[in-house]
Amino acid sequence: MCGIVGYAGSQQAVPILLEGLRRLEYRGYDSAGVAVVSGGALAVARSVGKLSSLHDLLARRPLDGQMGLGHTRWATHGGPSEANAHPHVDCAGRIAVIHNGIIENYMALKEALSARGHVFASATDTEVLPHLIEEALAESGVSAPAAAALAEAALADAVRAVLKQVRGAYALAAIWSQAPGVIVAAKKDSPLVVGLGDRENFIASDVPALLKHTRRVVYLEDGESAVMRGDRCAFFDALGLEIKKVPSEISWDSSAAEKGGYRHFMLKEIHEQPRSVENTLRGRLGGLGEETGLTPELLRGVKRVQIVACGTSWHAGIVGKYLLERHAGVSTAVETASEFRYRRPVLEPDTLVIAISQSGETADTLAAVRLAREEGLKVLSIGNTVGAAIPRQADFNFHTFCGPECGVASTKAFAGQLVALSLVALHAGTARGFMPEAQARDWAAELQRLPGLLRRTLALEDKIRAVAAELRAARHVLFIGRGVNYATALEGALKLKEISYIHAEGFAAGEMKHGPLALIDPGMPVVAIATRSDVLEKTLSNIEEAKARGARLIALCTEGDRRLRGMADHILELPPVGEHLSPILNILPLQLLAYHAADLRGCDVDQPRNLAKSVTVE
Ligand code: AGP
Repeated sequence: MCGIVGYAGSQQAVPILLEGLRRLEYRGYDSAGVAVVSGGALAVARSVGKLSSLHDLLARRPLDGQMGLGHTRWATHGGPSEANAHPHVDCAGRIAVIHNGIIENYMALKEALSARGHVFASATDTEVLPHLIEEALAESGVSAPAAAALAEAALADAVRAVLKQVRGAYALAAIWSQAPGVIVAAKKDSPLVVGLGDRENFIASDVPALLKHTRRVVYLEDGESAVMRGDRCAFFDALGLEIKKVPSEISWDSSAAEKGGYRHFMLKEIHEQPRSVENTLRGRLGGLGEETGLTPELLRGVKRVQIVACGTSWHAGIVGKYLLERHAGVSTAVETASEFRYRRPVLEPDTLVIAISQSGETADTLAAVRLAREEGLKVLSIGNTVGAAIPRQADFNFHTFCGPECGVASTKAFAGQLVALSLVALHAGTARGFMPEAQARDWAAELQRLPGLLRRTLALEDKIRAVAAELRAARHVLFIGRGVNYATALEGALKLKEISYIHAEGFAAGEMKHGPLALIDPGMPVVAIATRSDVLEKTLSNIEEAKARGARLIALCTEGDRRLRGMADHILELPPVGEHLSPILNILPLQLLAYHAADLRGCDVDQPRNLAKSVTVE
């Protein structure tokens, strides 16, 4: 996610902005920039790459000013480049805007603005904002030079007027050379916090950027805005009415603040999943063609799909296979990229290769993509890192927009991949006439309910922590599931083994009799995924087989299903959801189970031994 910092006060702004952006580096970024207002003029400096590049640029060309904005960009629309770096400015170079989020209707806004003569310098969605503010200010009739209060009110009104035109998520700040000392900030579906100092005020996308200067903060709520100067800060609701906001006192240290108060990035990212799923879904329920190139025509022409991925992403691919075959009627194969790339696969024409990779840099997956392209096949990348090697090689890109995932163990990115695959199956199923319209409507409605269902599932954490205590001394744990939740079993096992170092294996529940049942020792933990499904009865039989041999059963079931009572030693009841979406919900308690077991064992949860976040070598 992008990093936002703003300062208004009596100190030089640039050093404060750079320090604040440095405190937000953990969020991941690929370019950075600052803008200041001084002497009635706006000055901007931007650079691609790390903050050190911006630092060097500013050392060569210092910018003076006691008010300004800073931004680190995590690319979404438009790859990493100086032109796409924030802040973005209007035609006259008097208005600067920084933004974190996604403007869903930016294409339409950009076309209309271009038709009215506005010239764009970037491929970003954000750049429409300064041009819209430019028009709103022109319509206000307030031109330079204007009395300070008038200019301040005009900028605030212009930002509010513009936000009525945009759809999507934003945490943004705007400054105007004709309103020196004034920052207008606004928030919807993307975090923004105001820092209240002593004759100086701040804005930031996250608390760490503020802690060096103040611990008094105000969290903006959706639809609210702030108009600040060094000597005061006013807050407004969506109607533009001034409101009172009660400051909070931050007690965290900066390290804890980077994790949002959580002990580890992994736990923070598990809890971010409702929000990250909202980001993955945003603007995609109606279709994928305009943004990704996956038009209905293209989806109709796909004869088969070959999914390639590694680790957690491979587990997402297994779910993808089930969804595409069962709900879109597309023959789908899925394979680990490390096997695919060396076995000389027979690839038929009209095969769409789907490469799933959070980092977009996994060597085996990248090699599999190159092999597919050498064979003349089209490649769809489902990834979380814009501008990475795999999306750059792909013909089509579905970015999950989950924001940087810092924990080595993948969590929110997995949810994003599953949502992406559900959307591809939904749009392919309808485009091919395979999925009835009514079912498509139900799918879309369920996808929209997912963030709320995930929030309800997170409420199980205390119970899960207690169950995790039982796993603390375990040496072997089995995970079993059927259908799409066979993949959930594999992923749950991977989570536990990679961060707690407990040996864990996932099996298709139907496979137990073919060998794994021999592993069951009395008291051995078996985690069974037994939520609502067409094959639930069979899964219950497998659970009984394990129980009969002395296993300690930890079972996931759907709320209200009483059949596991008396059978399972621990039951985690999850909200009802369609089987096709159930892995997105079911994996969440398994992530928490792994996290708490590992934490109780004193493991390094975010940086487990022997592993890297991105395996860029074979
Ligand atoms: C999952 O928790 C691991 N970090 C690992 O299996 C990971 O999923 C795998 O290395 C693939 O990474 P990618 O999604 O970035 O390609």
